[in-house]
Amino acid sequence: MHETVEKILLSEEQIEEAVEKIARRIDSDYTGKEPIAICVLKGSVMFFSDLMRRLQTPMQFDFMAVSSYGNSSESSGTLKVMTDLRTDVKGRDVLIVEDIIDSGFTLMKLKELLGKRGAASVKVVTLLDKWERREYPVIPEYCCFQIPDEFVVGYGLDYAEKFRQLPYIGILR
Ligand code: IMP
Ligand code: MG
Repeated sequence: MHETVEKILLSEEQIEEAVEKIARRIDSDYTGKEPIAICVLKGSVMFFSDLMRRLQTPMQFDFMAVSSYGNSSESSGTLKVMTDLRTDVKGRDVLIVEDIIDSGFTLMKLKELLGKRGAASVKVVTLLDKWERREYPVIPEYCCFQIPDEFVVGYGLDYAEKFRQLPYIGILR
């Protein structure tokens, strides 16, 4: 265990099981469709690659990097698009793949943006939902785990760009 991770909140096994379950639900909802899956960099990268491998639905991949945080742990109030999509989402079914929803600001802005670009549908799958901290009205269609209000790292999630490589989700000391 990493020296500054106080506790393992979700083990590799728990994550694997939850990802498989959510994949089955997504497959049954998207039968006959060819959605675009958007990996929201960088935090979603582990979840995205594990989830995609478990889906039967033919998915297109695209990547986006947005920021509403900087390096602090407080929301800054604006969404910056650091890296944009290469795909035109007009008329397409879009599945946003998120690591964590906190205040909901990032996701609300992202959904607005994709809606303005003419996506036929925009759904959200998130690994984690810190529902107690919600300030903006976003509800993910698919959620693997609702978690308490703790700062978590690992499986893609960082604290000041560290800990992303941990295979589990841990709570920082
Ligand atoms: P929101 O806009 O307040 O919903 O914040 C969402 C973003 O904040 C996520 O995509 C993460 O980048 C970051 N974030 C929120 N909580 C945590 C956490 O516990 N650990 C790591 N990153 C977090
Ligand atoms: Mg994120």
